[in-house]
Amino acid sequence: MSRRQAHHGDTENTEVKAFKATTCGAVAIQSLDDLVAVKRLLFNGQRDQYNGPVLDAAHGPRHSGGDGRNQLHYTQQGPTMDVVHGNLYDYPKYYDLLFGADWRAEFDFLRGCFDRHARRPVRRLFEPACGTGRLLIKLAQAGYDVAGNDLNPRAVAFCNARLARHGFPAAAVVGDMANFRLARKADAAFNTINSFRHLPTEEAAEGHLRSMTAALGEGGLYIMGLHLTPKGPPTCDEETWNARRGHLAVHSRMWSIDLDRRHRQETVGMTLDIRTPSRQFRLVDQILFRTYTADQIRDLFRRVDEFELAETYDFGYDLDAPAPVTGRTEDVIFVLRRK
Ligand SMILES: C[S@@+](CC[C@H](N)C(=O)[O-])C[C@H]1O[C@@H](n2cnc3c(N)ncnc32)[C@H](O)[C@@H]1O
Repeated sequence: MSRRQAHHGDTENTEVKAFKATTCGAVAIQSLDDLVAVKRLLFNGQRDQYNGPVLDAAHGPRHSGGDGRNQLHYTQQGPTMDVVHGNLYDYPKYYDLLFGADWRAEFDFLRGCFDRHARRPVRRLFEPACGTGRLLIKLAQAGYDVAGNDLNPRAVAFCNARLARHGFPAAAVVGDMANFRLARKADAAFNTINSFRHLPTEEAAEGHLRSMTAALGEGGLYIMGLHLTPKGPPTCDEETWNARRGHLAVHSRMWSIDLDRRHRQETVGMTLDIRTPSRQFRLVDQILFRTYTADQIRDLFRRVDEFELAETYDFGYDLDAPAPVTGRTEDVIFVLRRK
């Protein structure tokens, strides 16, 4: 079942509209607030309006021969579309168009957490796996001193170019969040939409948390949002978004391909249909996430005892509605505080 909601947002100075469809059958989206409340999705958030023709993602790819890579074509509802197999994060412009408008709820929530839970003034922020810096730019504009790292050089270049364009230092670096050191400690850090689950092993996850403890001053916060694997079946396993700015339109679909609880790995499929006046193509990607049950993440936190748990929330981003974690929890934001 598909639900839809329109939303107006902005990335930089361009007004954009959001339009999203999900198959979270349990939730009826009537308003933007409802939409925010259903962010128990693979990533998170509102997307922008796309008025152009949309490929029907329910139809599968048709192989056109060769080795099958970059040679597939989709033919539903219109002209043939080239298919490129690639990494979503190598396309920061399209990533940012899809996800960049969706910053307000996280931004307000983060600032609320700084006020409520930090035990030190919060001026310096760090975002591990910062990507295109969709949140860093907003926080820099709000007066924070921001920095980030990301494994993907293209995302880092995009992030730094935008920071520089707005008169801020190019403070993102290429780096692995599993093992890094900051020259200056931060007062708070955040990692809101499942990036932590990109860390493929328990060692990498623990290395990340240890790096974070070293990166934060005493009383500082690490705010970490992710999806947990509930005991029963997850309530949502597919989402589509549409985004448009000027002549660029992007339609995306993400769906869970496989949830391997034993090996703690979730495989997520993704297609992005990209349309510009000069080119149309479909980007096809598969993303691997490590899975965590509530018990598994608690075990991990227990091993890194320089953090205490200040509070837990869900992807409703409502500071007045802390959400205790149970075996059925699907989306959670841990507010960890450096002892
Ligand atoms: C879902 S995106 C989130 C980007 C950004 N935090 C945001 O909120 O839009 C995940 C990001 O994690 C990055 N990433 C994955 N593994 C990483 C690692 N080991 N160290 C640093 N970044 C990593 C990817 O390159 C990608 O930019």
